[in-house]
Amino acid sequence: MADQAFVTLATNESYARGAMVLGKSLRNHNTTKKLVALVGPHVSEPCQSVLKRIFDEVRVVDVLDSGDTAHLAMMKRPDLGVTFTKLHCWTLTHYSKCVFMDADTLVLSNIDELLEREELSAAPDPGWPDCFNSGVFVFSPSNETYAKLLQHCTEHGSFDGGDQGVLNSFFNTWATADISKHLPFIYNLSSIAIYTYLPAFKQYGGNAKVVHFLGKTKPWSYTFDPKAKQISGSVHEATAHPTFLLDWWTLYSSAVVPLLQEQYGDQPFHSGCVEGESSPFAEALGPQLSSEERKQKWEQGQADYMGMDSFDNIKRKLDTFLK
Ligand code: UDP
Ligand code: GLC
Ligand code: MN
Repeated sequence: MADQAFVTLATNESYARGAMVLGKSLRNHNTTKKLVALVGPHVSEPCQSVLKRIFDEVRVVDVLDSGDTAHLAMMKRPDLGVTFTKLHCWTLTHYSKCVFMDADTLVLSNIDELLEREELSAAPDPGWPDCFNSGVFVFSPSNETYAKLLQHCTEHGSFDGGDQGVLNSFFNTWATADISKHLPFIYNLSSIAIYTYLPAFKQYGGNAKVVHFLGKTKPWSYTFDPKAKQISGSVHEATAHPTFLLDWWTLYSSAVVPLLQEQYGDQPFHSGCVEGESSPFAEALGPQLSSEERKQKWEQGQADYMGMDSFDNIKRKLDTFLK
């Protein structure tokens, strides 16, 4: 239907590249819906031009900021106040229904069926499953809802400083009222779940339709060698399963970088692709830690997912327990 759309948001260059990959992944899986990107006014001209080649509509919006440093500090994400900007999606009233998707999500198969769901449908948040995660949600644009949401922000603020807190307190019957509004987790699989419930990931992970690179470390925090198909980066707090990261980088380097190169022309730009990097995740392994230090880091939520605490190592350990 022409009046249905997938919508994303990027207020800066990095998230804009995420949005490009997301848009390409939707196109590659033959979506019949429109694609809309909301962008902040500071996203550069070449980036906006590339977005226009992938999306049907690129709309510049004011950046809304919660400015709520106390709550954001609690999440250790001082950067997420601007996610209030997401609320602008309710103003897209030339569509009857839409799916919002964070710019750090990647589509692995056609998900047009999501538009059969009603507002507000979303998947549980892996950190607190009675809340929904606002990285993927179905909504119905409406100026009235938009006004009410803004009023809600003014009166109650956000318990996490970002949009997810506001949306969960606004749509506060999500957890209990209607199970059809609970999207299966495969529509918003965050890698965190892989490490917190590995057997479930082994059982169901193969059905994933959308992966969400939730957390501080994003795919673009790494660098990639397209020839060797290797990812590396000095990032310790890795959040993604290497296979999904590789999917993201493969799509970015093959389908997005050429468009960026065309738009930037002679102007220099940093694609994140570098040739001749050595062993994957080499730097991410970091200095060797004692097992006590590793345990402490793990308990602080800083597991070395790309190194010692990698998926394969955890699996090996679990297999020995199961035997
Ligand atoms: N976002 C943005 N600029 C920012 C931070 C966030 O455009 O500086 C948008 C982007 O679409 C992003 C979403 O808001 O995917 C939510 O932020 P993020 O994905 O970083 O949060 P997380 O899912 O890691 O909690
Ligand atoms: C989350 C969601 C993200 C949201 C952020 C701030 O963890 O994944 O989409 O913007 O919280 O509320
Ligand atoms: Mn996200």
